[in-house]
Parts: sequence; structure tokens; C-alpha cells
Amino acid sequence: MAIVYIGSDHAGLGLKAALVKRLSETGHDVRDLGPATAESCDYPVYAKKVCKKVLADADGAAPGDDPASYGILVCGTGIGMSMAANHIPGIRAALCGCEFQARATRRHNNANVLCLGERVTGQGVALDIAELFLSTAFEGGRHLRRVNQIEG
Ligand code: RB5
Repeated sequence: MAIVYIGSDHAGLGLKAALVKRLSETGHDVRDLGPATAESCDYPVYAKKVCKKVLADADGAAPGDDPASYGILVCGTGIGMSMAANHIPGIRAALCGCEFQARATRRHNNANVLCLGERVTGQGVALDIAELFLSTAFEGGRHLRRVNQIEG
């Protein structure tokens, strides 16, 4: 299974811990890039850390290729993380609140980073979203044309 880099801010720390536990138990290679404590911190710092790793693993891959690794970012709403991540070329970050979105963003957008809001999405739903995101393939075809336009 692909490596999963995960990061949060203080508001996403609890869900991050739950994700690390669940995804490790289900066989994913999860790399927790922090933070390690609940001290107040800035979400762009962790968005950049995680996205840097995802891009390094992609190493020149085309937008339609299966991601070599994935990122998961958690903050209070998921919104700040998604803004910070999508600011970085090559990152396609999807803020998901339900399984439909998780499945669709992998199939249609080839998203390589999942964003979640700990204060918005219940833990059980968030864990299922992450599992689905990581196990759903990009469909390509007409969707590839559109993904290429995002990057172009
Ligand atoms: C932290 O209070 C909160 O602003 C942050 O976690 C996030 O929701 C920002 O988008």
C-alpha cells in the first residue's frame, strides 16, 4: 500500500491520532508529521510539510498517474488545510465530509491529499472517508483531460 503522510494543527490532533491508529491497523504505512502536542500551532506549516513529502514521492509523475503516496490533513474545519495545500502546484487537495465526496474526488479529480475537519465531521465518518479515499482509483478518460487543465 502507498505511504500516507498525515499532519494536523491543534484542532485536528484528536482525529489525526484516530486516523493514525485506524489506518495503521488496516495495513497502511502511516507517517505522522506532527504536531505531537496540543499546543496551538499554524495549519499552513503542517500542510506544507505533508505536501512536500507527497510531491517528493511523485517525482515528476503526470497528473493522471496514481499517486505514489497520499497526504491527509486535519484542522478544525478542514478549510484552512485545503486552502494551504491547494496553493501548492501539483497538490490536488479535497475537503471531504462524506463518503460520496471521498469516492468521487479520487475517481474524478485524482486527489492526492485528503482534508478533514475534526470540528465538523464525526470520527466514525472521517475514518470511513479516509479508508475509501485511499482505496479508490482514478478513472482517467474524460476526467484526465480536466485534471490536466487544473495543472496546466
Ligand atoms: C483553529 O482554531 C482553526 O482556525 C483551524 O483549525 C482551521 O479550522 C482553519 O481553517
